[in-house]
Amino acid sequence: MLKLKFLFLIGLFYGQSIAQTCPILPTPAVFQTTNGQFISSGALLIDPSGITPDLTLAIKDYSLWANEILVTPFVQNPMVKFKKLNNVKQDSYSINIADKITISYSSDASCFYAWVSLLQLVQMEDGQLVFPKCFVKDYPQFQWRGLHLDVSRHFFTIEEVKRFIDLMAYYKFNTLHWHLTDDQGWRFEIKKYPLLTEVGAWRDSTLENHYTTQPRTYNKTRYGGFYTQEQIKEIVSYAGARYIEVVPEIEMPGHARAALAAYPQYSCTGQAQGVEGLWGIFDDIFCAKEESILFLQDVLTEVLPLFPSVYVHIGGDEAPKTRWKECPKCQSVIKENGLHDEHELQSYFIGRMDAFLTQKGKKLIGWDEILEGGLSPNATVMSWRGYEGGKAAAAQGHYVVMCPGSHCYFDHYQGRGSDEPLAIGGYTPLDRVYAFNPIPAEMSVADAAYVLGAQGNLWTEYIPNMAQLEYMTYPRAIALSTTLWSETKLPYDKFLSTLMRFHFPFLSKQNVNFSKAALKPELKTTREKNGGINIQKMPAKGTLASPEVFASIPAAKKKTQNIQLEVEQGSNLAPKKINIIQHKALGAQIEFQIPPSPKYDNGSLTLVDGQLGARPWKGNEWLGFDSNSVSFDIIFEKPIRVKEIRIHTLHDPNSWIWAAQTYLIQLNKYGCGNGIADGYSTDELIEISIKDKKVKQIHIVITGLSEIPQGQPGAGNTPWLFLDEIEIR
Ligand code: ACM
Ligand code: ZN
Repeated sequence: MLKLKFLFLIGLFYGQSIAQTCPILPTPAVFQTTNGQFISSGALLIDPSGITPDLTLAIKDYSLWANEILVTPFVQNPMVKFKKLNNVKQDSYSINIADKITISYSSDASCFYAWVSLLQLVQMEDGQLVFPKCFVKDYPQFQWRGLHLDVSRHFFTIEEVKRFIDLMAYYKFNTLHWHLTDDQGWRFEIKKYPLLTEVGAWRDSTLENHYTTQPRTYNKTRYGGFYTQEQIKEIVSYAGARYIEVVPEIEMPGHARAALAAYPQYSCTGQAQGVEGLWGIFDDIFCAKEESILFLQDVLTEVLPLFPSVYVHIGGDEAPKTRWKECPKCQSVIKENGLHDEHELQSYFIGRMDAFLTQKGKKLIGWDEILEGGLSPNATVMSWRGYEGGKAAAAQGHYVVMCPGSHCYFDHYQGRGSDEPLAIGGYTPLDRVYAFNPIPAEMSVADAAYVLGAQGNLWTEYIPNMAQLEYMTYPRAIALSTTLWSETKLPYDKFLSTLMRFHFPFLSKQNVNFSKAALKPELKTTREKNGGINIQKMPAKGTLASPEVFASIPAAKKKTQNIQLEVEQGSNLAPKKINIIQHKALGAQIEFQIPPSPKYDNGSLTLVDGQLGARPWKGNEWLGFDSNSVSFDIIFEKPIRVKEIRIHTLHDPNSWIWAAQTYLIQLNKYGCGNGIADGYSTDELIEISIKDKKVKQIHIVITGLSEIPQGQPGAGNTPWLFLDEIEIR
């Protein structure tokens, strides 16, 4: 009896430990192992009678690509049998590996997903295929599991797009949102308007370095490319064979400079301008006059037949209304249709496209700006400026795809190391993507039913080639697919160890240039008890190493000094040399009257840690405020002599961040008459001299612009105020 109990316990433990190392990602709903292995010494023999000829072909092709496994149809004595089930959960499947392999599935897509899981279970040992005997039961949580690919800012060949699709399929993504047109290049052959590609697909220059780097310099090599309709069909069919639907995006009314370079008559001014070589947002957009609407409907007429997808993306984001305000034609459309303003004109414009697409049996999807001026009746909203657009759309009974910048923008940095390739900005590390939930906590169950799923967005301004595209995509895309597919996620450390053990080797074998930023240690600064800072080397999240002390620096007693610390290569410690400004407020206490936004609250020490925020900002080294005023106190351990205060702010209008406008400084106690300095500044660095005073507390109020000016990105919204170091000298 005792022995049986012992064996049972071992069995449990053994089962558990294998279960803990389930190699499949996204994590399946059920994974149970039994003892033993299923071994095949050569090709995998399948019974094709249980699946369609298309599936047989898909399985054969994909197995060769993924694992170099030969799959051979063999009805007499197959190793793998398929069984189609009715009345089961959508896209669910199960795999039973015993003396044979049985796959039960509910749809062709789910059979393919089962096969992908099988490919993730196999180990090659001495030329043999070895599968653990196990049972897998699985189904997706969300129906829109997407990646977005911008081929306008940088062009990717059809072979590269196919590779992107192959990798997507390995992680059970089912939607490729293909961003085919933008200011910097039109990539889609339209036979009725040949200039769209003859002119619009090519630019004469491309910005070098970051958008914010001054002075701007350009690479003058002619750059471009496009896909013929035949090539588009080839991609759509290739994706379809991997159960991925391609959703085309034709941007309107904004991000239209490439199209307008070819056909300036569809702009408001009619003036010819080249295809853009700079990134950003441009005033010249499609005019809202009838001719422009008909032109775009003509374009869509050629686009639609090439895509089985019911969804068609029409963009709708970042369309400044500058030209529309001045354009007599746009103004007469406003008048004739009883519209109130240019936002309603955009809504009218999108509504025309909605009616057109609906009549063709398609569904319009657009970025969340399509909510402004009123949402069109059949529109689905892609929520990118946070969750708000998605929440508003769902509350109005519209479908939603979530892709908030905070979690789904894979053009953001994923590591803090100075060896990270130049990116647009922001900081979206692997663990943040893994923690993403497309359904915000405050959303009602009824509204949540409108959330179709989510996608990762790969904008390619700073992604010039395939190697970098893969670097930005992987492994973050695997974290996203897990979030979208798996009802129950593993804890992050288990996810990371599964990645390292099973998926990094796979990606390496495929020569995927994936990022290892998530494995690197980071520096963490804390306050010392009596002022000053302590810097520790922290192991990467989800790994087991212990923290180590790296440096301890007291606050300056007299003169400010610059200290340079050397950091070893190949770590995620940013940058390789860190500069510490050892000033008098180093490690001082901060009390906020107006706190930072939770989105960019990296702790009050950020303001007095001696380290200046990086440019382009990576999200972490700055405190971001969404109020246009900031108010706080710096409190010292003992009174100190103060001669100068230096306030570092950030000016990055493209990210809706504007430098401070006014400041007010009060020493020791506040109230009327204690303001020792106030003034106006639009510089990033505010320098304030003080007549040598003894100070225990400094009260600082900084005010920014109340509204982003017209013609600027985010016009009309409250800009962000970003602060970093407050140096006290
Ligand atoms: C976007 O990132 N402009 C949708
Ligand atoms: Zn106009």
